[in-house]
Amino acid sequence: MKTKIFMMKEDNIDYGKIDEAACAIREGGLVVFPTETVYGLGANALDALSVKKIYKAKGRPSDNPLIVHIKSRDDLPSLVTKIPKGANKLMEKFWPGPLTLIFKKSDAIPKETSGGLDTIAIRFPSNKIAQAIIERAGVPIAAPSANTSGKVSGTTLKMCIDDLNGKVDYIIGEDDSKSGLESTIVDCTVSPYLILRPGIITLEDIRAVINDVYLDKSILLNDKVVKPKAPGMKYKHYSPKAEIRIISGDRDKAVEYICRKASELILENKKIGIMCIDETYDLYRKFPYVVSLGKLKDELKIASNLFKTLHYFDMQEVDIILSESFDETNIGLAIMNRLKKSSGYNIINLR
Ligand code: TXA
Ligand code: MG
Repeated sequence: MKTKIFMMKEDNIDYGKIDEAACAIREGGLVVFPTETVYGLGANALDALSVKKIYKAKGRPSDNPLIVHIKSRDDLPSLVTKIPKGANKLMEKFWPGPLTLIFKKSDAIPKETSGGLDTIAIRFPSNKIAQAIIERAGVPIAAPSANTSGKVSGTTLKMCIDDLNGKVDYIIGEDDSKSGLESTIVDCTVSPYLILRPGIITLEDIRAVINDVYLDKSILLNDKVVKPKAPGMKYKHYSPKAEIRIISGDRDKAVEYICRKASELILENKKIGIMCIDETYDLYRKFPYVVSLGKLKDELKIASNLFKTLHYFDMQEVDIILSESFDETNIGLAIMNRLKKSSGYNIINLR
């Protein structure tokens, strides 16, 4: 398949091109588009045949449900059977934005979209290009992250092209995703509500709106021990080609360990990538592939650089990535959730 690539910025939308891509969605095609979290690989959420193409393009298991993207809260009532009070409060506060809510689905949603479940995940993105495509398509758009299954989610136009060129009709975008991690998912069909996937909107943020909400147990524990409630969270995820080792515990000790280990591995002819923070970057100056994700306190920056950096190491054909670790509080919980999954829980604890 020939993929058309449209470059545009959020503050300078080319509506002629948006209309062309939106028309492709209506006709059953696939369009990769930017959102504020990660790029999405979209199709008409109401059409089973269109949605099946998403699973095929990604190589995604068909029991892994998709998130339906809408352009306003007005689109919601026809897609769900019930909107609980707490969900209304969350939408009021966080929509449009990086929060996905799970509802009981209406008959308008085909079972292909919901992965056979009777619930459906819905999100109203804040990215203006995403909003324009949904608006012009005139249908809600089902969109998983734009990456082949198991790989790192696409957060830049280049990542999407590297991974999906030839597999979709259109790829649209230019800027990097702002948050760089997928949306926070809250299941509003259970009582109390459960966070199934942590994101930029944190447990603390959500508790400030509705206090009775908890984390799915698999987020805090190793998900090889507790099965996650979101079907997609059980699959191997966010995996670069390289082996990742996370060095946790005291940061000074971690730096010392990483330097020693990297030197040893280089002697064994391994190509080593090091993932660190601005504050420790200089300590690794003798190594060739070192990327700082940002300042320790700048969690948003660290989050937005994570997948991009894993992709960079893939492009450099690094064998092993040695990564510093982060506290699992606030956005750090989401950062470590993705990092731990990409490493397959390969954690070296120096405490
Ligand atoms: O930020 C995001 O959410 C991005 C952008 C494109 O919007 N999308 C995204 O989609 O991350 P995806 O398909 O990569 O991840 C969706 C996750 C999967 O783990 C899936 O199993 C879970 O949401 N999910 C979807 N519907 C669900 C449902 N009804 N019940 C439980 N989990 C659900
Ligand atoms: Mg994904």
